[in-house]
Amino acid sequence: MLVRVLGSGAGGGFPQWNCTCHNCQSVRDGKPGFTARTQSSLAVSTDGASWALLNASPDLRQQIADAPALQANPKYGLRNSPIKAVVMTNGDVDHMSGVINLREAQPFTIYATRRVLGIVKDNSIFRILAADTVRHEELTLGQPVALSGAGAGLGLDVEAFDVPGKIALYLEDASAGPSLGTTTGDTIGLKVTERASGKTFFYIPGCATLDDALKARLKGASHVFFDGTLFDDDEMVRAGLMPKTGPRMGHISMSGPKGSIAEFHDLGVKRKIYVHINNSNPVLDEASKQRRAVEAAGWDVGYDGMEVRL
Ligand code: MLT
Ligand code: MN
Ligand code: ZN
Repeated sequence: MLVRVLGSGAGGGFPQWNCTCHNCQSVRDGKPGFTARTQSSLAVSTDGASWALLNASPDLRQQIADAPALQANPKYGLRNSPIKAVVMTNGDVDHMSGVINLREAQPFTIYATRRVLGIVKDNSIFRILAADTVRHEELTLGQPVALSGAGAGLGLDVEAFDVPGKIALYLEDASAGPSLGTTTGDTIGLKVTERASGKTFFYIPGCATLDDALKARLKGASHVFFDGTLFDDDEMVRAGLMPKTGPRMGHISMSGPKGSIAEFHDLGVKRKIYVHINNSNPVLDEASKQRRAVEAAGWDVGYDGMEVRL
């Protein structure tokens, strides 16, 4: 099974269009040790010929252009695509709006929870993906499904599970109190299994805390691609970028007693890879002490084009 990190950045990417923070300006200026990143998505394949996308970012067009394996192939006629399925982990703009890059009457299947499929159904712009061409399949938490699309199987089973998180930013309802209207199915993690080999990995690009249930699930896992949005809970506040902390955004930080570095310490996960890394995160400065700290703790900082073979 091959996993390709299409985009390792968080919403807005790196650099973010309207941001002149130290990181964004450094990558824009071409300073060594700063590497641009597109928005959050993985691709996975068992045979290199048919692929599932795990999230579809607004940068998907560029991500396909950068990955020959995801491109149309003249061997299969005038119109074709190796992308057979798209699995969505939440309704965030960076994770699902890019699916409209896949218009032009190409068949594939969208997998998401009822909550997130509801967003696709309710927003008329997604009707560009005509119902007779693009199939919707509901993910039920705890029930693995065999991914398929355009009439063929992908050799992959995907199990969705609820993770602590938040409803999409544009659906937040302040009148609902601290939950902002968040309910089950708004933010999920995925366990992806290659049926032939039994090999698995977890993909959790958005996660507010590591509760006991999630820790039990991840214990001893071979590969986990995990939420690397922030290094410190309050880094965006301190940098004057915006007033929201990690908990308010539904994202755990890397540092701190309840951060991902500490919480994963005893889980025995063989390979831990940060994805969905926000442009404010100091680990994006490859010479920073924070970068050294996460690497010393056994984490990889994911990058666009990173390939992991399981
Ligand atoms: C997030 O990860 O918190 C969201 O992508 C934020 C957003 O939609 O801009
Ligand atoms: Mn995001
Ligand atoms: Zn920035």
